[in-house]
Amino acid sequence: MIYLDNGATSFPKPPEVIETVMDVMSNYCANPGRSGHFQAARTAQEIFKTRLALARLFQIEDPGQLIFTKNCTEALNLALKGILREGDHVITSSMEHNSVMRPLHRLRKKGVETTVVRCDERGRISIKDIREAIRPNTRMIVMTAASNVTGTKMPLEEIGRIALRKGILFMVDGAQGAGHMDLDVKKNHIDILAVPGHKGLLGPQGTGFLYAKEDLSMTPLLEGGTGSHSKELSQPDEFPEGYEAGTVNAPGIIGLGAAARLVNKIGIEAIAEHERKLTENLQYGLKKIKNVRLYGPDDTHEKTPVVAMNIAGLDCEEVASLLNDRYGIAVRAGFHCSGAAHETIGTGNTGCVRLCPGFYTGENEIEETIRAIGEIAALFSDAGKK
Ligand code: ALA
Repeated sequence: MIYLDNGATSFPKPPEVIETVMDVMSNYCANPGRSGHFQAARTAQEIFKTRLALARLFQIEDPGQLIFTKNCTEALNLALKGILREGDHVITSSMEHNSVMRPLHRLRKKGVETTVVRCDERGRISIKDIREAIRPNTRMIVMTAASNVTGTKMPLEEIGRIALRKGILFMVDGAQGAGHMDLDVKKNHIDILAVPGHKGLLGPQGTGFLYAKEDLSMTPLLEGGTGSHSKELSQPDEFPEGYEAGTVNAPGIIGLGAAARLVNKIGIEAIAEHERKLTENLQYGLKKIKNVRLYGPDDTHEKTPVVAMNIAGLDCEEVASLLNDRYGIAVRAGFHCSGAAHETIGTGNTGCVRLCPGFYTGENEIEETIRAIGEIAALFSDAGKK
Protein backbone atom coordinates (compact mmCIF):
# COMPACT_ATOMS: atom_id res chain seq x y z
CA MET A 1 0.00 0.00 0.00
CA ILE A 2 1.12 3.56 -0.71
CA TYR A 3 -0.27 5.88 1.92
CA LEU A 4 -0.80 9.46 0.69
CA ASP A 5 -3.50 10.52 3.14
CA ASN A 6 -1.25 12.08 5.76
CA GLY A 7 -3.40 15.23 5.74
CA ALA A 8 -6.16 13.18 7.35
CA THR A 9 -3.88 11.33 9.76
CA SER A 10 -0.26 10.27 9.53
CA PHE A 11 0.64 6.66 8.84
CA PRO A 12 2.69 4.69 9.71
CA LYS A 13 3.42 5.80 13.25
CA PRO A 14 7.03 5.82 14.49
CA PRO A 15 8.11 2.62 16.31
CA GLU A 16 8.96 4.80 19.35
CA VAL A 17 5.31 5.85 19.59
CA ILE A 18 3.95 2.32 19.26
CA GLU A 19 6.42 0.99 21.85
CA THR A 20 5.59 3.81 24.26
CA VAL A 21 1.83 3.26 24.03
CA MET A 22 2.37 -0.49 24.60
CA ASP A 23 4.59 0.24 27.58
CA VAL A 24 2.06 2.61 29.20
CA MET A 25 -0.81 0.20 28.72
CA SER A 26 1.16 -2.85 29.84
CA ASN A 27 3.02 -1.41 32.77
CA TYR A 28 1.54 1.56 34.57
CA CYS A 29 -1.45 3.32 32.97
CA ALA A 30 -3.29 4.81 36.00
CA ASN A 31 -5.38 7.94 36.45
CA PRO A 32 -3.07 10.96 36.72
CA GLY A 33 -3.74 13.76 39.19
CA ARG A 34 -6.26 11.72 41.18
CA SER A 35 -4.60 9.14 43.42
CA GLY A 36 -1.22 9.37 45.11
CA HIS A 37 0.12 5.88 44.38
CA PHE A 38 3.22 5.14 42.36
CA GLN A 39 1.37 4.23 39.16
CA ALA A 40 -0.71 7.41 39.17
CA ALA A 41 2.40 9.49 39.90
CA ARG A 42 4.32 7.84 37.05
CA THR A 43 1.42 8.47 34.63
CA ALA A 44 1.26 12.13 35.69
CA GLN A 45 5.02 12.46 35.32
CA GLU A 46 5.02 10.99 31.80
CA ILE A 47 2.14 13.27 30.77
CA PHE A 48 4.12 16.22 32.05
CA LYS A 49 7.04 15.10 29.88
CA THR A 50 4.71 15.33 26.86
CA ARG A 51 3.84 18.91 27.85
CA LEU A 52 7.55 19.70 28.00
CA ALA A 53 8.31 18.18 24.59
CA LEU A 54 5.40 20.01 22.96
CA ALA A 55 6.27 23.28 24.68
CA ARG A 56 9.80 22.97 23.28
CA LEU A 57 8.52 22.26 19.78
CA PHE A 58 6.29 25.34 19.66
CA GLN A 59 8.43 27.63 21.86
CA ILE A 60 5.72 27.78 24.52
CA GLU A 61 7.19 29.27 27.66
CA ASP A 62 4.90 27.68 30.25
CA PRO A 63 3.99 24.02 29.58
CA GLY A 64 1.09 24.46 32.02
CA GLN A 65 -0.66 26.65 29.42
CA LEU A 66 -1.14 23.62 27.23
CA ILE A 67 -4.54 21.89 27.51
CA PHE A 68 -4.87 18.33 26.20
CA THR A 69 -7.89 17.68 23.99
CA LYS A 70 -9.02 14.70 21.94
CA ASN A 71 -8.18 16.41 18.65
CA CYS A 72 -7.64 19.77 16.99
CA THR A 73 -11.38 20.27 16.46
CA GLU A 74 -12.01 20.11 20.20
CA ALA A 75 -9.18 22.57 20.82
CA LEU A 76 -10.64 25.00 18.25
CA ASN A 77 -14.15 24.68 19.69
CA LEU A 78 -12.87 25.24 23.22
CA ALA A 79 -11.13 28.47 22.27
CA LEU A 80 -13.77 29.89 19.90
CA LYS A 81 -16.76 29.09 22.12
CA GLY A 82 -14.87 29.74 25.32
CA ILE A 83 -13.63 33.21 24.40
CA LEU A 84 -15.97 34.88 21.92
CA ARG A 85 -19.02 36.73 23.20
CA GLU A 86 -21.98 38.61 21.69
CA GLY A 87 -20.77 41.84 20.09
CA ASP A 88 -17.26 40.52 19.38
CA HIS A 89 -15.99 40.58 15.81
CA VAL A 90 -13.80 37.81 14.33
CA ILE A 91 -11.79 37.78 11.11
CA THR A 92 -11.05 34.53 9.35
CA SER A 93 -10.18 33.30 5.85
CA SER A 94 -12.14 31.52 3.14
CA MET A 95 -9.65 28.62 3.29
CA GLU A 96 -10.70 27.43 6.75
CA HIS A 97 -11.79 23.92 7.64
CA ASN A 98 -15.27 23.33 9.06
CA SER A 99 -13.73 22.95 12.50
CA VAL A 100 -13.41 26.76 12.40
CA MET A 101 -16.28 27.58 10.03
CA ARG A 102 -18.97 25.63 11.87
CA PRO A 103 -18.28 26.94 15.39
CA LEU A 104 -18.18 30.47 13.89
CA HIS A 105 -21.51 29.82 12.16
CA ARG A 106 -23.07 28.86 15.48
CA LEU A 107 -21.50 31.84 17.23
CA ARG A 108 -22.87 34.16 14.53
CA LYS A 109 -26.36 33.15 15.59
CA LYS A 110 -25.40 34.19 19.12
CA GLY A 111 -24.41 37.70 18.10
CA VAL A 112 -20.74 37.26 17.22
CA GLU A 113 -19.88 39.18 14.03
CA THR A 114 -17.62 37.50 11.47
CA THR A 115 -15.72 38.57 8.38
CA VAL A 116 -14.48 35.85 6.04
CA VAL A 117 -11.62 37.30 3.98
CA ARG A 118 -11.70 35.73 0.54
CA CYS A 119 -8.39 34.24 -0.61
CA ASP A 120 -7.27 34.01 -4.24
CA GLU A 121 -7.67 30.91 -6.40
CA ARG A 122 -4.44 29.43 -5.02
CA GLY A 123 -5.62 29.93 -1.46
CA ARG A 124 -3.42 32.95 -0.70
CA ILE A 125 -4.65 35.72 1.57
CA SER A 126 -4.01 39.44 1.15
CA ILE A 127 -2.63 41.26 4.19
CA LYS A 128 -4.32 44.44 2.92
CA ASP A 129 -7.71 42.68 3.02
CA ILE A 130 -7.07 41.58 6.61
CA ARG A 131 -6.13 45.13 7.63
CA GLU A 132 -9.26 46.51 5.98
CA ALA A 133 -11.48 43.99 7.76
CA ILE A 134 -10.43 45.17 11.23
CA ARG A 135 -13.17 46.96 13.20
CA PRO A 136 -13.12 48.62 16.62
CA ASN A 137 -14.74 45.49 18.12
CA THR A 138 -12.44 42.95 16.40
CA ARG A 139 -11.55 40.52 19.19
CA MET A 140 -9.82 37.78 17.26
CA ILE A 141 -8.19 36.78 14.00
CA VAL A 142 -8.41 33.03 13.48
CA MET A 143 -6.47 31.53 10.62
CA THR A 144 -5.29 28.15 9.51
CA ALA A 145 -1.51 27.74 9.37
CA ALA A 146 -1.94 25.94 6.05
CA SER A 147 -4.95 24.86 4.02
CA ASN A 148 -5.99 21.21 4.26
CA VAL A 149 -7.09 21.35 0.60
CA THR A 150 -4.15 23.03 -1.16
CA GLY A 151 -1.49 23.21 1.56
CA THR A 152 -1.24 26.99 1.04
CA LYS A 153 0.63 28.49 4.00
CA MET A 154 -0.74 31.68 5.57
CA PRO A 155 1.61 34.60 6.33
CA LEU A 156 1.38 33.99 10.08
CA GLU A 157 4.18 36.28 11.19
CA GLU A 158 2.74 39.28 9.37
CA ILE A 159 -0.80 38.62 10.57
CA GLY A 160 0.47 38.04 14.11
CA ARG A 161 2.29 41.38 14.03
CA ILE A 162 -0.86 43.21 12.92
CA ALA A 163 -2.92 41.51 15.63
CA LEU A 164 -0.34 42.37 18.28
CA ARG A 165 -0.24 46.01 17.24
CA LYS A 166 -4.03 46.29 17.27
CA GLY A 167 -4.51 44.37 20.54
CA ILE A 168 -6.43 41.59 18.76
CA LEU A 169 -6.11 37.93 19.77
CA PHE A 170 -4.34 35.84 17.13
CA MET A 171 -5.44 32.24 17.00
CA VAL A 172 -3.93 29.65 14.67
CA ASP A 173 -5.42 26.35 13.53
CA GLY A 174 -2.32 24.19 13.38
CA ALA A 175 -4.09 21.11 11.96
CA GLN A 176 -2.08 21.00 8.74
CA GLY A 177 0.93 23.04 9.88
CA ALA A 178 2.11 21.33 13.06
CA GLY A 179 5.02 19.00 12.33
CA HIS A 180 5.32 20.32 8.76
CA MET A 181 6.39 23.94 9.31
CA ASP A 182 7.73 26.17 12.01
CA LEU A 183 4.90 27.21 14.34
CA ASP A 184 6.90 29.19 16.87
CA VAL A 185 4.27 30.95 18.97
CA LYS A 186 6.66 33.72 19.98
CA LYS A 187 8.01 34.56 16.54
CA ASN A 188 4.53 34.50 15.01
CA HIS A 189 2.86 36.34 17.92
CA ILE A 190 0.37 33.50 18.32
CA ASP A 191 -1.86 33.89 21.39
CA ILE A 192 -3.84 30.70 20.90
CA LEU A 193 -2.77 27.58 19.01
CA ALA A 194 -4.82 24.46 18.29
CA VAL A 195 -2.92 21.33 17.28
CA PRO A 196 -3.77 17.69 16.48
CA GLY A 197 -1.42 15.03 17.83
CA HIS A 198 -2.06 12.47 15.10
CA LYS A 199 -1.17 14.33 11.91
CA GLY A 200 2.21 15.96 11.31
CA LEU A 201 3.29 15.31 14.90
CA LEU A 202 3.06 11.54 14.19
CA GLY A 203 1.30 10.74 17.48
CA PRO A 204 -1.74 8.55 18.17
CA GLN A 205 -5.29 9.48 17.19
CA GLY A 206 -7.44 10.85 20.01
CA THR A 207 -4.80 13.41 20.94
CA GLY A 208 -4.42 17.14 20.46
CA PHE A 209 -3.95 20.29 22.48
CA LEU A 210 -4.80 23.92 22.86
CA TYR A 211 -2.19 26.44 23.88
CA ALA A 212 -3.65 29.65 25.25
CA LYS A 213 -1.52 32.50 26.54
CA GLU A 214 -1.65 33.44 30.20
CA ASP A 215 -4.44 35.62 31.59
CA LEU A 216 -6.91 34.53 28.94
CA SER A 217 -10.27 33.79 30.45
CA MET A 218 -12.16 30.96 28.75
CA THR A 219 -15.37 29.12 29.52
CA PRO A 220 -14.56 25.39 29.57
CA LEU A 221 -16.28 23.04 27.11
CA LEU A 222 -16.49 20.30 29.73
CA GLU A 223 -17.14 20.43 33.46
CA GLY A 224 -16.46 17.61 35.86
CA GLY A 225 -13.67 15.95 37.79
CA THR A 226 -10.32 17.69 37.68
CA GLY A 227 -8.63 16.00 40.63
CA SER A 228 -8.65 19.36 42.45
CA HIS A 229 -11.11 21.46 44.55
CA SER A 230 -13.35 18.37 44.81
CA LYS A 231 -15.72 19.91 47.34
CA GLU A 232 -16.51 22.93 45.17
CA LEU A 233 -19.37 22.89 42.68
CA SER A 234 -17.85 25.48 40.38
CA GLN A 235 -15.44 24.27 37.73
CA PRO A 236 -11.91 25.46 38.62
CA ASP A 237 -10.54 27.88 36.02
CA GLU A 238 -6.93 26.87 36.57
CA PHE A 239 -4.77 25.84 33.62
CA PRO A 240 -4.60 23.14 32.52
CA GLU A 241 -6.80 20.92 34.71
CA GLY A 242 -9.82 23.25 34.69
CA TYR A 243 -10.11 22.57 30.97
CA GLU A 244 -9.25 18.85 31.02
CA ALA A 245 -12.25 17.53 32.98
CA GLY A 246 -12.56 13.74 33.15
CA THR A 247 -9.93 11.07 32.68
CA VAL A 248 -7.44 12.07 30.01
CA ASN A 249 -6.16 9.81 27.24
CA ALA A 250 -2.97 8.86 29.09
CA PRO A 251 -1.66 6.24 26.60
CA GLY A 252 -2.30 8.59 23.69
CA ILE A 253 -0.79 11.63 25.37
CA ILE A 254 2.30 9.76 26.53
CA GLY A 255 2.63 8.28 23.04
CA LEU A 256 2.37 11.81 21.67
CA GLY A 257 5.26 12.75 23.95
CA ALA A 258 7.43 10.10 22.26
CA ALA A 259 6.37 11.50 18.88
CA ALA A 260 7.11 15.10 19.88
CA ARG A 261 10.56 14.13 21.18
CA LEU A 262 11.27 12.43 17.86
CA VAL A 263 10.13 15.50 15.88
CA ASN A 264 12.28 17.70 18.14
CA LYS A 265 15.25 15.40 17.55
CA ILE A 266 14.93 15.34 13.76
CA GLY A 267 13.99 19.01 13.61
CA ILE A 268 11.08 20.70 11.82
CA GLU A 269 13.38 22.16 9.16
CA ALA A 270 14.71 18.75 8.14
CA ILE A 271 11.22 17.22 8.10
CA ALA A 272 9.81 20.14 6.11
CA GLU A 273 12.60 19.96 3.54
CA HIS A 274 12.21 16.19 3.11
CA GLU A 275 8.44 16.56 2.61
CA ARG A 276 8.88 19.56 0.32
CA LYS A 277 11.12 17.58 -2.03
CA LEU A 278 8.57 14.75 -2.19
CA THR A 279 5.83 17.28 -2.95
CA GLU A 280 7.99 19.00 -5.56
CA ASN A 281 8.64 15.70 -7.36
CA LEU A 282 5.00 14.73 -7.19
CA GLN A 283 3.87 18.06 -8.63
CA TYR A 284 6.57 17.98 -11.31
CA GLY A 285 5.50 14.51 -12.44
CA LEU A 286 1.78 15.29 -12.40
CA LYS A 287 2.22 18.53 -14.34
CA LYS A 288 3.56 16.57 -17.28
CA ILE A 289 0.43 14.41 -17.52
CA LYS A 290 -2.11 15.59 -20.06
CA ASN A 291 -5.54 16.33 -18.59
CA VAL A 292 -4.28 16.67 -15.03
CA ARG A 293 -5.07 19.98 -13.36
CA LEU A 294 -3.31 21.03 -10.16
CA TYR A 295 -4.57 23.54 -7.59
CA GLY A 296 -2.79 25.64 -4.99
CA PRO A 297 0.65 27.29 -5.09
CA ASP A 298 3.14 26.17 -7.71
CA ASP A 299 6.08 26.93 -5.47
CA THR A 300 6.39 24.16 -2.90
CA HIS A 301 8.03 26.57 -0.43
CA GLU A 302 4.61 28.23 -0.14
CA LYS A 303 2.84 25.07 0.91
CA THR A 304 2.81 22.07 3.22
CA PRO A 305 2.96 18.56 1.66
CA VAL A 306 -0.44 18.62 -0.02
CA VAL A 307 -1.14 18.22 -3.73
CA ALA A 308 -4.69 18.91 -4.95
CA MET A 309 -5.63 17.75 -8.44
CA ASN A 310 -8.30 16.61 -10.85
CA ILE A 311 -8.28 14.65 -14.08
CA ALA A 312 -10.45 16.19 -16.81
CA GLY A 313 -13.68 14.30 -17.34
CA LEU A 314 -13.25 12.10 -14.29
CA ASP A 315 -15.05 12.44 -10.99
CA CYS A 316 -12.57 12.91 -8.15
CA GLU A 317 -14.11 10.06 -6.13
CA GLU A 318 -13.71 7.78 -9.13
CA VAL A 319 -10.01 8.66 -9.37
CA ALA A 320 -9.55 7.93 -5.67
CA SER A 321 -11.32 4.58 -6.05
CA LEU A 322 -9.20 3.63 -9.05
CA LEU A 323 -6.04 4.56 -7.18
CA ASN A 324 -7.11 2.48 -4.19
CA ASP A 325 -8.57 -0.53 -5.99
CA ARG A 326 -6.10 -0.93 -8.86
CA TYR A 327 -2.88 0.46 -7.43
CA GLY A 328 -3.25 0.29 -3.63
CA ILE A 329 -2.72 4.05 -3.29
CA ALA A 330 -4.61 5.74 -0.44
CA VAL A 331 -5.72 9.35 -1.04
CA ARG A 332 -8.71 11.48 -0.04
CA ALA A 333 -11.15 12.91 -2.57
CA GLY A 334 -14.21 15.16 -2.29
CA PHE A 335 -14.60 18.39 -0.36
CA HIS A 336 -12.33 17.62 2.61
CA CYS A 337 -14.72 19.20 5.19
CA SER A 338 -13.76 22.57 3.68
CA GLY A 339 -16.57 23.72 1.38
CA ALA A 340 -15.50 27.37 1.43
CA ALA A 341 -11.93 26.48 0.45
CA HIS A 342 -13.19 24.54 -2.56
CA GLU A 343 -15.41 27.49 -3.58
CA THR A 344 -12.32 29.70 -3.32
CA ILE A 345 -10.07 27.61 -5.55
CA GLY A 346 -12.78 26.90 -8.13
CA THR A 347 -13.62 23.30 -7.22
CA GLY A 348 -16.89 24.12 -5.44
CA ASN A 349 -18.85 21.86 -7.80
CA THR A 350 -16.34 19.09 -8.37
CA GLY A 351 -14.18 18.68 -5.28
CA CYS A 352 -10.71 17.31 -5.96
CA VAL A 353 -8.28 14.51 -5.27
CA ARG A 354 -5.83 15.28 -2.47
CA LEU A 355 -2.46 13.56 -2.18
CA CYS A 356 -0.48 14.14 1.00
CA PRO A 357 3.01 12.65 1.27
CA GLY A 358 4.38 12.39 4.78
CA PHE A 359 7.54 11.87 6.73
CA TYR A 360 7.67 8.15 5.88
CA THR A 361 6.78 8.44 2.18
CA GLY A 362 9.46 7.07 -0.13
CA GLU A 363 10.64 8.65 -3.38
CA ASN A 364 9.77 5.40 -5.19
CA GLU A 365 6.21 5.70 -3.90
CA ILE A 366 5.93 9.14 -5.47
CA GLU A 367 7.16 7.73 -8.79
CA GLU A 368 4.66 4.87 -8.64
CA THR A 369 1.85 7.32 -7.91
CA ILE A 370 2.77 9.52 -10.88
CA ARG A 371 2.80 6.42 -13.09
CA ALA A 372 -0.60 5.29 -11.76
CA ILE A 373 -2.19 8.71 -12.33
CA GLY A 374 -0.67 8.83 -15.81
CA GLU A 375 -2.30 5.49 -16.62
CA ILE A 376 -5.66 6.53 -15.20
CA ALA A 377 -5.56 9.78 -17.19
CA ALA A 378 -4.66 7.92 -20.37
CA LEU A 379 -7.25 5.15 -19.96
CA PHE A 380 -10.22 6.87 -18.36
CA SER A 381 -10.10 10.64 -18.91
CA ASP A 382 -11.96 12.41 -21.70
CA ALA A 383 -8.93 12.20 -23.97
CA GLY A 384 -8.30 8.59 -23.04
CA LYS A 385 -11.86 7.53 -23.81
CA LYS A 386 -11.75 9.05 -27.32
N1 ALA B 1 -9.17 17.38 8.54
C1 ALA B 1 -8.69 16.16 8.01
C2 ALA B 1 -8.46 16.23 6.52
O1 ALA B 1 -8.23 17.28 5.99
C3 ALA B 1 -9.44 14.98 8.45
O2 ALA B 1 -8.51 15.21 5.88
